[in-house]
Amino acid sequence: MSEVRAALVGACGRMGNLIVRRILATEGITLSAAFDIVNTGKDIGEIVGVGKLDVPVSDSKDLAKVLKESKTDVLIDFTVAPATAANAPVAAGAGVNLIIGTTGLTAEQKTNITEAVIKNKVAAVISSNYSIGVGVFFKLIKNAAEYLGNDYDVEIIEAHHNQKKDAPSGTAMTAAEIISKAMGGKEFVYGREGVCPRGKEIGIHAIRGGDIVGDHTVMFIGNSERIEIRHQAHSREIFVGGAVMAAKWVVSQKKGVVYAMSDVLE
Ligand SMILES: NC(=O)c1ccc[n+]([C@@H]2O[C@H](COP(=O)([O-])OP(=O)(O)OC[C@H]3O[C@@H](n4cnc5c(N)ncnc54)[C@H](O)[C@@H]3O)[C@@H](O)[C@H]2O)c1
Repeated sequence: MSEVRAALVGACGRMGNLIVRRILATEGITLSAAFDIVNTGKDIGEIVGVGKLDVPVSDSKDLAKVLKESKTDVLIDFTVAPATAANAPVAAGAGVNLIIGTTGLTAEQKTNITEAVIKNKVAAVISSNYSIGVGVFFKLIKNAAEYLGNDYDVEIIEAHHNQKKDAPSGTAMTAAEIISKAMGGKEFVYGREGVCPRGKEIGIHAIRGGDIVGDHTVMFIGNSERIEIRHQAHSREIFVGGAVMAAKWVVSQKKGVVYAMSDVLE
């Protein structure tokens, strides 16, 4: 099979930097273009410290043109929600498949992206967490929620570094949605203050500080006992490997479909 040509939007960010390096180190995938709002015109290889690659950082306002000229098969996006909401439909319109890692997308933004994927007959993976370990964590919390049912109160605690823009994390929200579905529907309560008696809710709490890569704990709390299921990310590399794996996978999938990371892993 020919090399997958992958472009990256947010190439100069923390995740973008690592994904560029991983693409260079992975067989069967090549870096076709890089986009960001900073460092435009500079060589992305020099920005991430691997030497000249002859791939300039392009402004994302030229997205469709550069994607076509670079014969890109798949666009990997790790930026901020408003940028992804604007760029993903443009890339889909240019016939390019999508890997979306950006978190904090609203339901409306996700719907618009899904409509663009269907209309333009491309394939996409949207995941709040590309780690393989988190894929297993999601399966474990689903099982626990199905076994324990409504007799147990559920609280989710997540912790991230002090530069993270959105809260709660996309992963905490995915965990809450999985548990809510398994327990027949729950309200979400974000932190608590003042008089707030507990109802049939899932409590979601966000901690921000220092350089924490990403911790997620789900507590199932009953009378006289509790179960805690926890995932702790030690390095961003866990997301990077999954995102590049998904980029190689998505190009040969049925078009007009938005996939989850669980589809990639299966
Ligand atoms: N899904 C996952 O597995 C996963 C893992 C880690 C981080 N994330 C998410 O990925 C996103 C990026 O995280 P990060 O830590 O790399 O952030 P970051 O701030 O280090 O990088 C974001 C980059 O996007 C660029 N950018 C902003 N607006 C842009 C636009 N309109 N066009 C092009 N580029 C633009 C910024 O200049 C920056 O270089 C966040 O939403 C984060 O929550 C997801």
